[in-house]
Amino acid sequence: MATRVICNVGELTTNDPTLGDESRLGRLHDAAFVIDDEQVLWVGRNGEAPDADEMVDAGGAAVIPGFVDSHTHLVFAGERSDEFEARMAGRRYDGGGISRTVAATRAASYEELREGAYERVRELRAGGVTTVEIKSGYELTTDGEVRSLEVAGEFSHERTWLGAHVVPPEFATDRDAYISLLTTTMLDACVPHAKWADVFCDRGAFSVDEARAILETACEKGLAPRLHANQLAHSGAIALAVDLDCASVDHCTYLEDGDIDLLSASATVATLLPGAEFSTRSPYPSARRLLDAGATVALATDCNPGSSYVTSMGFVIALAVREMAMTTDEALWSATKGGALALRRNDVGHLGVGARANFAVLDAPRAAHLAYRPGAQLVASTHSADR
Ligand code: NIG
Ligand code: FE
Repeated sequence: MATRVICNVGELTTNDPTLGDESRLGRLHDAAFVIDDEQVLWVGRNGEAPDADEMVDAGGAAVIPGFVDSHTHLVFAGERSDEFEARMAGRRYDGGGISRTVAATRAASYEELREGAYERVRELRAGGVTTVEIKSGYELTTDGEVRSLEVAGEFSHERTWLGAHVVPPEFATDRDAYISLLTTTMLDACVPHAKWADVFCDRGAFSVDEARAILETACEKGLAPRLHANQLAHSGAIALAVDLDCASVDHCTYLEDGDIDLLSASATVATLLPGAEFSTRSPYPSARRLLDAGATVALATDCNPGSSYVTSMGFVIALAVREMAMTTDEALWSATKGGALALRRNDVGHLGVGARANFAVLDAPRAAHLAYRPGAQLVASTHSADR
């Protein structure tokens, strides 16, 4: 396999604490690293790199691990900018618009859904994303959820069944019948096409008891759990996620001290989605309280047409730093290694020896520019040996 050395890296963030400054960011200056088509083979000082078949001069730029966007809903049709405008004029977000996207998605062809997802993956990738999780959840029929997962499978192995997004209109007067469909026919059809199961456990969606029953059945059938929790209100959803050993509990907009204690004593990652608070004009989650208590925090886009039509991890980092008091290094770690942990992956989110060769070269001398220069296209190139 051909090898390549990337030399003259002004600032290399590896997220490997055995490297460089031995901080959590494992940072080196004036560095180089060697890769093959799959993985990182060597990391070290610029002048000490071993020979390789090809040499790339980074010209003093910063290099970071590829972003791991661990929470997206990017298989959908249509758009809901009118709802965004109404929210900016004072209306509250309550998830009620999900049914509009369900109608548009059901009406779209496979090819239309694939094209839309392709475009959003292209935007994410141009912004440095090398691993993306993709959820279903905008068809809410057995065949439709399978179809959405098939579209997702064209772009990622990290596929999540979200049949329990909301109760669709045709089951409005019989939610128990929908839950029965979810946990039998739909789940059986979707299991071969997904790795994860998720439930929107919140006011107006599914209760904690319903979410427990759905996720426990999904786990029995071979999926691994994750959960949307506390986006709209306090609930026992975070305790449920920790109890089920969910890889990640996502949103966490409303947090009580007890939730933070539970998360910091668990292996469940708190995935924060500040694009959603931005786009719904909601209070931002308490990243500082989580971090100071020792919880593991990830950052993701939540890309969807309702609450967060965001495809830029750089923008998410800028929000995390400016609005949630995360340091630039904490935000960078959470968008890379944090996202990997939220997907229980050790091979991505870092650039230690043996990691997948997934990285982004920035058009900047330091990764801090991602927050310092919001809105600029700072990713010069994205390299991926992974989907
Ligand atoms: O994660 N909250 C639930 N699901 C999505 C939003 C869905 C929508 O409004 O279309 C989210 O924010
Ligand atoms: Fe979401």
